[in-house]
Amino acid sequence: MKNKIIISNPNDMHVHFRDNEMLKLVVPETDKIYENCIVMPNTVPPITNREMAKDYKLRINKYIKNNLNPLMTLYLNENTDENDMIRAFKDKIIFAVKLYPQGATTNSDKGVKNLKNIFPLLRKMEINKIPLLIHGEDTDEKIDIFDREKSFIDKYLTKIVNKFPKLKVTLEHITTSEAVQYVKETTNLGASITPHHLASNRNDMLVSGIRPHLYCLPILKRRKHQEELIKVATSGNEKFFLGTDSAPHEIKHKENICGCAGVFNTINSIEIITQIFDEANSLSQLENFVSKNSASFYKIPFSKKKLELIRIDKPISFQDELIEGDLKIKIYKPNFEVNWKVSRRF
Ligand code: DOR
Ligand code: ZN
Repeated sequence: MKNKIIISNPNDMHVHFRDNEMLKLVVPETDKIYENCIVMPNTVPPITNREMAKDYKLRINKYIKNNLNPLMTLYLNENTDENDMIRAFKDKIIFAVKLYPQGATTNSDKGVKNLKNIFPLLRKMEINKIPLLIHGEDTDEKIDIFDREKSFIDKYLTKIVNKFPKLKVTLEHITTSEAVQYVKETTNLGASITPHHLASNRNDMLVSGIRPHLYCLPILKRRKHQEELIKVATSGNEKFFLGTDSAPHEIKHKENICGCAGVFNTINSIEIITQIFDEANSLSQLENFVSKNSASFYKIPFSKKKLELIRIDKPISFQDELIEGDLKIKIYKPNFEVNWKVSRRF
């Protein structure tokens, strides 16, 4: 039995930092653990152009003490200026572009309503090698919330990958066995997986009471889908990598008659994942999932810095909340014990 594991510093390929006071609270938590992170642009207002991305990065940088490298994204919409987008990418201000179908999730009301309208932009992205990150859910109100990911793949993602075969696409925070299968068989398509979709399923959210802090989008699915995610994450398959989708909302907006979607999971994210990999007898694949696969997929350098985790006898006691002034955020915890702890970074 392994009691210690050393991996190269992990990457979080999908994180929400929000803006203003929230930055102070959440950026340092990512900075404590991660090397690179892809920062989501669904702030209020959304990050829709080069100038906004540049300023947002400066605001984030104020709270970075270690080596965190925030990789910025642009919020795609039907009015995105293609020259501004290309310039932002060439100047290395943005790393990728994010597609939110309109209405799919938090602050997505300015997202894309008609996919066809952005085809010319996708063509430019393909030519200029700008990665496309997709929130893959069909927002048609007739589609059941548990079927939205599958429906998006069938109706839209297939069109995108067939029309733009050279475009590098990431299907973000995948939740279903159908997504796993589709990503496996499709060229130039990768996928991020969150800690909470690996660790929890819809029963955790809905049995014996409703738990608003587990409500996220795409919504937690059945156990059989969770098992498929664990299987592929622990398999070492290079197309699948960690993106926490850590999405802080104030507690009052989660414990609400109409609560927001999002799970703040940065704290203990690596420990939780290590526990899952340990239980799957796959500790040898941990580094691939959290550090190497994303670096290979996005062609960014592997970190030379290391993170050491040790097995502990007494399970970790999860911190409950993150608090700063009036801001209070609930910290995600799974319904199992975690016997791993980050011991050092070097
Ligand atoms: O649960 C989620 N929360 N899913 C998303 O796609 C967005 C995120 C947020 O920004 O709160
Ligand atoms: Zn997200």
